[in-house]
Amino acid sequence: MVKICCIGAGYVGGPTMAVIALKCPSIEVAVVDISVSRINAWNSDELPIYEPGLDEVVKQCRGKNLFFSTNVEKHVSEADIIFVSVNTPTKTRGLGAGKAADLTYWESAARMIADVSKSDKIVVEKSTVPVKTAEAIEKILSHNSKGIKYQILSNPEFLAEGTAIEDLFKPDRVLIGGRDTPGGQKAIHALRDVYAHWVPQDRIICTNLWSAELSKLAANAFLAQRISSVNAMSALCEATGANVTQVSHAVGRDTRIGPKFLNASVGFGGSCFQKDILNLVYICECNGLTEVANYWKQVIKVNDYQKSRFVNRVVSSMFNTVSGKKIAILGFAFKKDTGDTRETPAIDVCKGLLGDKANLSIYDPQVTMDQIQKDLSMNKFDWDHPIHLQPMSPTTVKQVSVAWDAYEAAKDAHGLCILTEWDEFRALDYQKIFNSLQKPAFVFDGRNIVDVKKLREIGFIVYSIGKPLDSWLKDIPAMA
Ligand code: UDX
Ligand code: UDX
Ligand code: ADP
Repeated sequence: MVKICCIGAGYVGGPTMAVIALKCPSIEVAVVDISVSRINAWNSDELPIYEPGLDEVVKQCRGKNLFFSTNVEKHVSEADIIFVSVNTPTKTRGLGAGKAADLTYWESAARMIADVSKSDKIVVEKSTVPVKTAEAIEKILSHNSKGIKYQILSNPEFLAEGTAIEDLFKPDRVLIGGRDTPGGQKAIHALRDVYAHWVPQDRIICTNLWSAELSKLAANAFLAQRISSVNAMSALCEATGANVTQVSHAVGRDTRIGPKFLNASVGFGGSCFQKDILNLVYICECNGLTEVANYWKQVIKVNDYQKSRFVNRVVSSMFNTVSGKKIAILGFAFKKDTGDTRETPAIDVCKGLLGDKANLSIYDPQVTMDQIQKDLSMNKFDWDHPIHLQPMSPTTVKQVSVAWDAYEAAKDAHGLCILTEWDEFRALDYQKIFNSLQKPAFVFDGRNIVDVKKLREIGFIVYSIGKPLDSWLKDIPAMA
């Protein structure tokens, strides 16, 4: 029986291993983590992450060929294939701070593998890492090898949160990079055999190590760039009277461009896009490619601009002040169908409004009060470095409350900001909300999900990203 061990039971490791276990009954899969509370949650009925369809997959395999454990050394030493799926946050200090990936967790995982291994291993990079990380990992393993042979593979994961199970069941592609040596090719085949249980052969792409590592960064940079491109257009649409939804539709019908990932929004978030682009920028700079670095940096600048543009719209529409006004925030997660808040645009928007002394009442179907308070009290990039957590300042605590539903959040508020595209926000009784709001009643739709015409008929003043402006907003400049 082939034994697989995955180090890191997070958003990537957990769902990926659960699907491998489901699709490969002949393989034993152990997912290990140093966090006792995370492993306990994986072994309970309340999984540590919310992901549609994940519960069923875990229930079917857990205890049969899928195990969650904190006994890292035991499972690593017994495994034939070790996936490493630990976090690689952006460095907050030292060389490359604010850009480079922090590989501390990766290095400690590699050293541990070298310490406890007694037989040959295939080590698979699953978490996104800077190009050439495999070389560093190889060095750590081979210099501590005690005669054991290691093969390093890069097998980046392309699943998106909220659709992880769907993406894992039917991936567009599986990418496996390895050394061009007989040993490297043998390792690639061993991993390909795992995926071949359910992924058609023509969707399994095999490349060299560096292509695989770089492809992951490139794919995320291209996706994020599409969003920044359409978001940049949204500002121009507002200035000209064009409608960004119509523009995206027309542009996306060109098959060379394609229709996906062209939704204008308050900005992209999530643990990958910004982090991976910063990483790419850093790699370019280290290689003396300043122009290339600047090109990708701009994708992040437009994303930051989009968030501050949104805050400006809110404040300027409400007579240039939100001080002491209650504003309802609908949605805090970085996208629908997840409880994940890493790099969510909601953090910057809320901080912007709090800076203008607004009182926020926040509702998200999957994000806890605890998480919201942590996020609003953290500095940029601290989300993966819990050690730097600062308690919220007493004024901020007073300005933020968390509501149980959208109606409670909206009660007596001056306006509503929709920051996540949860389906339930499309189906709200907006007449009921209008009745409970202060007048004039504002809706700022950061995800273009409301029916603008219907809401205007009810009496709302509506701002929807990149859509023709309400006469109310027309004369107010978007950016001060
Ligand atoms: C373009 C648009 O494609 C067309 O829709 C529009 O109506 C007019 O402008 P055209 O300039 O004739 O058409 O050719 P196109 O095939 O788009 O190529 C433009 C340039 O891009 C060429 O120099 C081509 O060699 C280059 N190119 C194209 C690349 O370098 N790489 C590619 O992947 C595609
Ligand atoms: C992304 C990649 O899609 C995935 O392949 C990779 O493995 C990890 O990073 P994820 O961050 O989970 O996945 O979510 P994604 O669906 O890509 O959305 C990222 C952000 O972009 C979200 O904040 C989303 O709301 C935003 N977005 C997406 C838009 O603003 N407009 C769009 O058209 C699409
Ligand atoms: P991702 O979104 O990439 O899956 P997460 O932060 O959700 O990232 O998950 C990474 C997991 O890796 C965390 O649960 C963390 O506790 C775990 N981890 C980090 N370093 C180690 C290590 N050396 N050994 C075991 N687990 C680790």
